[in-house]
Amino acid sequence: SSETSRTSVVFVHRGTFVHSTPENALQVMEDALVGVDDRGKIAFIGEGKELQKLSQVFGFSSSEVAQLERHEFFMPGLVDTHIHASQYSYVGTALDMPLLQWLNTYTFPVEACFKDLEFAQKVYTKVVRRTLRNGTTTACYFATIHTDASLLLGQIANDFGQRALVGKVCMDRNSSVKHYKETCQESEDEAHRFIKELLNKKYPLVKPVVTPRFALSCSEDLLSKLGEIAKNNNLHIQSHISENTEEVTLVKELFPDSESYTDVYHKCNLLTGKTVMAHGCYLSDNELDLFRETGASLSHCPNSNFSLCSGVLNVRNVLDHKVKCGLGTDVAGGYSSSVLDAVRKTLDASKVLTIQDPEHNTLSFEEVFRLATLGGSQALSLDDQIGNFEVGKDFDALRVNVAAPGGPIDLIQSDGPKILLEKFLNLGDDRNIVEVFVAGRKVVPFTDGLGEI
Ligand code: GUN
Ligand code: FE
Repeated sequence: SSETSRTSVVFVHRGTFVHSTPENALQVMEDALVGVDDRGKIAFIGEGKELQKLSQVFGFSSSEVAQLERHEFFMPGLVDTHIHASQYSYVGTALDMPLLQWLNTYTFPVEACFKDLEFAQKVYTKVVRRTLRNGTTTACYFATIHTDASLLLGQIANDFGQRALVGKVCMDRNSSVKHYKETCQESEDEAHRFIKELLNKKYPLVKPVVTPRFALSCSEDLLSKLGEIAKNNNLHIQSHISENTEEVTLVKELFPDSESYTDVYHKCNLLTGKTVMAHGCYLSDNELDLFRETGASLSHCPNSNFSLCSGVLNVRNVLDHKVKCGLGTDVAGGYSSSVLDAVRKTLDASKVLTIQDPEHNTLSFEEVFRLATLGGSQALSLDDQIGNFEVGKDFDALRVNVAAPGGPIDLIQSDGPKILLEKFLNLGDDRNIVEVFVAGRKVVPFTDGLGEI
């Protein structure tokens, strides 16, 4: 057809593919053939027995087909819907305080250091390489208030080939650090400059995201201005909501005219089909309804919710309300930069709820696999481009070897693909991730000359 003749298939993989669909949390395709074109898009998905026909239609020879090894499968790339790139500088430490004290004691003083572009370059290179190595093909990043350092994060993600939403943080009140905050006007102007300059770079996989830190860090004026900027430029929006009880109480006090925390953002046009809000542990059912009605989504960050003793989000209730939901590492409130860790802690959080109430319908590993991939793509409203294996979507994928030599998994019997996926999700790590592809480009193993991690 004319559709297929415009592009050429540049590689074909044969073997087991696992992914999710809206109907099916886990779909296994055994002996599948997946072809990727020169734009990095999936050109066809077929079965091994169709090799002859497909090679003729798409013009490749069967010697060009790469066969997966035993115990290997392809899965969609992991989507981290909420991560603070700047906080990677103290990841794995400083987990001994509740949210608001933690922000004032550790976070704001460290983020203030990103005025220094050399420091920013070091930290941002490390976080992009580390998350790619962990299989994060798409990351939704908070940077800091510094426009130039935030632009640098966009450049680094682009250079390493990671798909990224990048936010210059906006905040004009309640900072413990004198110089780590902006005036409302500065914040608005710098948000504009950040968006304009990042869009001007025309990085194919990196987009700006309007980023009010959260209601306690922003005046109502600033929130409204940012809502307007997002609307006028059809941009993504990210922030935090209802993470911790003290925060929720203070938001009520600071915004007495709003019906709820969700209403604060809604009034300022910050809840749209391209909004992702982190945490949401204490949202009411009415607030979840407002999320569904506006198309806004939630990023579930269980490591952070546990580590800062914030709360336990009931993801089952979020899904029952038909609110889009993905997983976030929330580095450094979360101590792990791996979405696999977020998968495990999502299952733990769901089991805690079942311990407290045996009627609670525990999430299955298949459902959490979907949250980590397709769910994340929906939460970032990128599901027309990524999230699973569909013809026309970008090839964002992990080649997983469950039995990687020196890896953490012992295979005892001959396991089918579903069991292999379950073992990888529960026990695997980056040693099992043999290759990472973003938009058809192999980004791991690294070829940047900096060596492996
Ligand atoms: N709320 C506002 N800022 C932050 C942050 O940096 N981390 C977390 N976990 N919550 C926040
Ligand atoms: Fe966060």
